[in-house]
Amino acid sequence: MSEMMAKPEAYFRRMLPKRSALLHALEEEARREEIPIVGPVVGELLYVLARATGAARILELGTATGYSAIFLAEACAATGGHLTAMEVDETMARRAAANLASAGLTQWAEVKCVNALEEMARIVEPLDFIFMDIEKEDYLTMLPHCARVLRTGGFLLADNVGFADADAFNRAIVKDPAWRTVSLFAFLPEHSPEKDGLCLAVRV
Ligand SMILES: C[S@@+](CC[C@H](N)C(=O)[O-])C[C@H]1O[C@@H](n2cnc3c(N)ncnc32)[C@H](O)[C@@H]1O
Repeated sequence: MSEMMAKPEAYFRRMLPKRSALLHALEEEARREEIPIVGPVVGELLYVLARATGAARILELGTATGYSAIFLAEACAATGGHLTAMEVDETMARRAAANLASAGLTQWAEVKCVNALEEMARIVEPLDFIFMDIEKEDYLTMLPHCARVLRTGGFLLADNVGFADADAFNRAIVKDPAWRTVSLFAFLPEHSPEKDGLCLAVRV
């Protein structure tokens, strides 16, 4: 039988997806300013999942400088979809909008400077895909909103569910009949942090 890689973390660190100079610059900036971005593995995962699910109406909760939003907006550009990215911090929201513009993705994405906890209550149109990356203690509050706005078959990815503050969310979603869900604990090179949990869920 074939053996496992001797040094799987070093090996998979060499397997990072190719990405643009802009994304490399945003990674470098995030390191410098200690901005917790998803990094290239989860970024590319977002692109792959958005394309694979054919998502046209995508919502991001927690955008920071727009790094993850760029991957989602790239998927929208390929399918004619649209990303709404919510960010509560005004400076971050401005930076995200500027970075999406630098990536040539303005047509496919809009950054709203809002508190997602309040704004979610106002959404009435059905969505296909939600990426959640706000404060982890707020994930549980957002869960019923996500269930309400996602269409049946819609997809939710929650980042950083390895954080203790996500415990209540993790326990709730796994027994909630509104969802089929899987929580993964993974090695995610250049993610903040590099070993963390991801929750993937479909609205049933
Ligand atoms: C982990 S960072 C997002 C990183 C980004 N998704 C990426 O990977 O490029 C979390 C962001 O969520 C924002 N945030 C926190 N609570 C929020 C809320 N209630 N509504 C909107 N944004 C929020 C913070 O200001 C911060 O910029």
